[in-house]
Amino acid sequence: MREKLNKIKEEILNTSIHSIEEAELYRLKYLSRKGVMNELFEEFKKVPNEEKRSVGQLMNELKLIADKKINDAQLQFGTDKNKNKQSFLDLSLSGEPIELGSRHPLLITQNKIVEIFNKLGFVFTEGPEIENDWHNFSGLNFPENHPARDMQDTFFVDKDIALRTHTSSVQVRLMETETPPIRAIMPGRVYRNEAISARAHCFFHQIEGIYIDENVSFADLKQTLYHFVKEMFGKEFNIRFRPSYFPFTEPSAEMDISCMFCKGEGCNICKHSGWVEILGCGMVDPEVLKSNHIDAEKYTGFAFGMGIERITMLLYNVKDLRVFSNNDVRFLKQFNGV
Ligand code: PHE
Repeated sequence: MREKLNKIKEEILNTSIHSIEEAELYRLKYLSRKGVMNELFEEFKKVPNEEKRSVGQLMNELKLIADKKINDAQLQFGTDKNKNKQSFLDLSLSGEPIELGSRHPLLITQNKIVEIFNKLGFVFTEGPEIENDWHNFSGLNFPENHPARDMQDTFFVDKDIALRTHTSSVQVRLMETETPPIRAIMPGRVYRNEAISARAHCFFHQIEGIYIDENVSFADLKQTLYHFVKEMFGKEFNIRFRPSYFPFTEPSAEMDISCMFCKGEGCNICKHSGWVEILGCGMVDPEVLKSNHIDAEKYTGFAFGMGIERITMLLYNVKDLRVFSNNDVRFLKQFNGV
């Protein structure tokens, strides 16, 4: 039996298959119900028990070789079933073009902002999108039941857990793990329960910066943001600060830049004021430093936060914020950048 197996093995190894028809002949001869392999299995039953093991091994080996041969041939020539399809295969046709993806415009803007602040020594940092009350509110000086919490319509997951409403939560996370000097830039997605329109969405992106050290002053804040505007938008832009309120900064301000569409003359986009608002900022409230175990006598800091959608809309004159999440490639592929 052994000899026979070896002979058939040789025979199979020496068989070469050049077409679908030859593959079928091979299959009929060796692998069909009445084929050689089945005959061998019948014969195998008669092999004396003490030889079954070693002959069985040979049989298995042979079966693997025989199967591989037909599989390879079918891969190469196809099976009978798609024989007709094969005849339509025209190898001289050119291939389908492979579409290249591009970076999302929001990411392009985010990367630009991060790069500007990186050069000033701000370190890229991130935090979780699902936050507890402490990091999103209490640690930022939002007392419980304080109306300031209503400024941000929150999606709650649980009593204490919510989708973060701003990236300021990352400030708190930083303060609890780092000691000053702290200088970081923190982008991320945030969520607010707002009706979706051309100007608002239930999720959007913010980027926040924080700088805590000895002797950090409002003048540093102004100068840093002025530098940012010149790098981001161009040298011809002016900035102005308007007093504002955030629970975690004191004093707080909103910053406007001169309107890029009318160059300050007044148009629909700036509501004829000549200015467009781009960010919120302020000096980190000493209470926030204290509740995050930072010595408020020794250290001061500033923070700012802006909407990445808003900056992108101003940069590229996009009028409807919903296009950023519609995933329409006709819109997305107009942007190129890193
Ligand atoms: N977190 C504020 C917002 O969501 C923005 C901000 C950040 C203001 C940091 C001041 C300082 O509107």
